[in-house]
Amino acid sequence: MFMEIKAIKGVRDILPEEIPIWQWLEKIVREVFETSGYSEIKIPIIEYTNVFSRSIGETTDIVEKEMYTFLDKSGRSITLRPEGTAPVVRAYVEHKLYSSYLTKLYYIGPMFRYERPQSGRYREFYQIGAEALGVDDPRIDAEIISMLNLLFERLGVAGLKLQINSLGCKECRKDYRDILIKFLSERLSLLCDDCNRRYQKNPLRTLDCKSEGCISATIDAPRMLDYLCKGCRDHFDAVKEYLNMLDIPFTINPRIVRGLDYYTKTAFEILNDKLGAQNAVAAGGRYDGLVEDFGGPPTPGIGFGIGVERLVSLLQKDSTNSHPPEVFIASIGDAAAKLSLPMICRLRYEGVRAELGYKGSLKSQMRKADKSGAKYTIIIGDEEIARKKAILRNMETKVQQEIALDDIIDIIKGLC
Ligand code: HAM
Repeated sequence: MFMEIKAIKGVRDILPEEIPIWQWLEKIVREVFETSGYSEIKIPIIEYTNVFSRSIGETTDIVEKEMYTFLDKSGRSITLRPEGTAPVVRAYVEHKLYSSYLTKLYYIGPMFRYERPQSGRYREFYQIGAEALGVDDPRIDAEIISMLNLLFERLGVAGLKLQINSLGCKECRKDYRDILIKFLSERLSLLCDDCNRRYQKNPLRTLDCKSEGCISATIDAPRMLDYLCKGCRDHFDAVKEYLNMLDIPFTINPRIVRGLDYYTKTAFEILNDKLGAQNAVAAGGRYDGLVEDFGGPPTPGIGFGIGVERLVSLLQKDSTNSHPPEVFIASIGDAAAKLSLPMICRLRYEGVRAELGYKGSLKSQMRKADKSGAKYTIIIGDEEIARKKAILRNMETKVQQEIALDDIIDIIKGLC
């Protein structure tokens, strides 16, 4: 009896037919990010759990419910990374990358969250993220959003909407928290169990809660934007001004609180209606206290994460560049079969994408050649070999010509 073995729920294979679009996407990402001065960093997939619990916040959904956490063989608590910002900041402090006034880093890779899987929401998903550490100038807030815009333009993705908010700083958020707690404490019977439990510790989460009761109970909730201190208000006004200067349309959404506690000041989300319920393609914001929380010097930071599966679902399928063979070799007979192997290997050494028909009649190998998308097919049979010849067929024009076996490599190199 064979056991039916399938991939884990919420985790999926990215099959070869999808890979060209992922590779093309990553190529454009690298081009756009590197033009903007970002360098790639590869961060580990596993970290000590406190890298996330302390920075993302003990009372967030991610930390309370969604992390893949286990004890390793020495009894240490380890977590599969649910996001990239905390590991980047951990690495930034550990390797003292702050020696330069501005450190710009990007990463591409899988993240893991134990969420309820649905369209556009997976338990393993890929993120492309960028983080700029060291500058609190509002120009960089607008600049990083403009880099995202440029990326989406290069990828040909339309219909995106930018929403922004300010979450204030530690100081002004303290006053706002007290006001919000008071507001919530008068509506506890309307709030869900989670929000009842955590509204004292983390009242902002209530504004992010998706339960109907919490949404309607908080419709008239006090807005952080009305309680910003002068510094945070000036910063937000400047970000808006710069976005206008850059012709980047946006709306202000005072309900954006983000699902992670490290944010300060600017928070933003980029949405696309075609995505249905999970409509955020990218999201990010400023986190001016996070480097200090990890034991580094006071260092402001801002960044974003893009959900790759969601982005891929918005891309035109014809924007791929698949890699069909340039030349296909159909061989008939033992001598020709033997010769065909060194021939494709030689062609590949010369940088030509070459494939073999392996088996079947000439007709069936020609069908394979056609299906592969090859531009040329070389047909060799024992009789041609005896005459030191081969047939070269142009698959588009269907014109065939006889060529000398010894010239095959040079001729193909010249054609491809
Ligand atoms: P986030 O909003 O949690 O932010 O995730 C960023 C993006 O990842 C989302 O907008 C969405 O496109 C995608 N995403 C999140 N969860 C899933 C999922 N379960 N399945 C598929 N896609 C998903 C962060 O992670 C922050 N680290 C972003 C950031 C960087 N902020 C500052 N720097």
